[in-house]
Amino acid sequence: MAAEPAIRLEGLRKTFGPKTALDGIDLDMPAGAVFGLLGPNGAGKTTAVRIITTLLRPDSGRALVAGADVVREPDRVRRSIGVSGQYAAVDDKLTGFENLYLVAKLYGMRRRTASTTARDLLSRFHLDDAADRLAATYSGGMRRRLDLAGALVAAPPVVVLDEPTTGLDPQSRLDTWDIVGELVREGTTVLLTTQYLEEADQLADRIAVIAEGRVVAEGTSDELKSATGGERIELVTADARDLAAAHRVLAAVSGTPPALDRRARRLEVTVGAGQNGQHALATVAARLTSEGIHVLDLGLRRATLDDVFLALTRRAPDGDTAVLPRITDWPPNSGDLDRKEVRA
Ligand SMILES: Nc1ncnc2c1ncn2[C@@H]1O[C@H](COP(=O)(O)OP(=O)(O)O)[C@@H](O)[C@H]1O
Ligand SMILES: [Mg+2]
Repeated sequence: MAAEPAIRLEGLRKTFGPKTALDGIDLDMPAGAVFGLLGPNGAGKTTAVRIITTLLRPDSGRALVAGADVVREPDRVRRSIGVSGQYAAVDDKLTGFENLYLVAKLYGMRRRTASTTARDLLSRFHLDDAADRLAATYSGGMRRRLDLAGALVAAPPVVVLDEPTTGLDPQSRLDTWDIVGELVREGTTVLLTTQYLEEADQLADRIAVIAEGRVVAEGTSDELKSATGGERIELVTADARDLAAAHRVLAAVSGTPPALDRRARRLEVTVGAGQNGQHALATVAARLTSEGIHVLDLGLRRATLDDVFLALTRRAPDGDTAVLPRITDWPPNSGDLDRKEVRA
């Protein structure tokens, strides 16, 4: 029998007035791994996190944490979950130490244990030097680390991190990544939401891409990459007059018309499903040579998680979300992503 998932979502729906935040989410998140919920701003990530952590009731559907229903058994859920996120629970009028000590006391720890736990966490998050300063004096990165430490006080089996690195400086981001890695090595299940593809790629064992309240893709980062277009052949001709002939060669080998960037003398095409990219590339190279076409550049490119994300979250005119990127849009413009503004 398969192990019980740490978190299970079944047909989860939530609307806010006319706005549908979650439009029927089904997901199983395995225990002991990092699950990445990846989606642009407004996709529904925080709504899902708030439901999972019992802060918000779904309109319909179910969410189970370690088998406990978030609506029917919220206390059981709260006992197994630690949360850190955008609605950060850091008290400015307390020092870093006092913040964590208070959380430990709320969990019913004795004074000595609460104090040791708070000191240990402060040191783990590189906050020892700032332990006795008011949180009001902390930088954004320090506050985020303190908030994350607060989620770990009770050493919960499931930790939920809502965009833990959005707006963080690069060093604090790397520190956070280290901590996530450490948690998983200790056997904790981590649910992490992010708008950053690189972060999901680095940290998550499995990824669900969500857009407009729906899961548009799910799998390991490798599965997602190979599901989206797979490989592409790209070439740049030495002479613009060869573009038409090169276009014919690429079209014949791949079975699809390549995209053309006339100014850059560049052609690209997706290798057909079931085709071996390396073989197709060799065939293209041989035909170009036999037709006397010189290329400045010729290569095989594998889809990145960026490609997957843009392909899946870009809406087609008919409203179908799962649409491949048009090659004329290449390379994808990361400015398409609606990044959260940086909060101090
Ligand atoms: N309390 C609320 N009232 C009204 N609309 C909300 C509320 N919370 C979220 N929404 C809307 O639901 C959608 C999903 O929001 P959210 O879950 O915060 O997305 P994400 O965390 O992925 O950025 C957005 O369109 C947002 O404006
Ligand atoms: Mg959010």
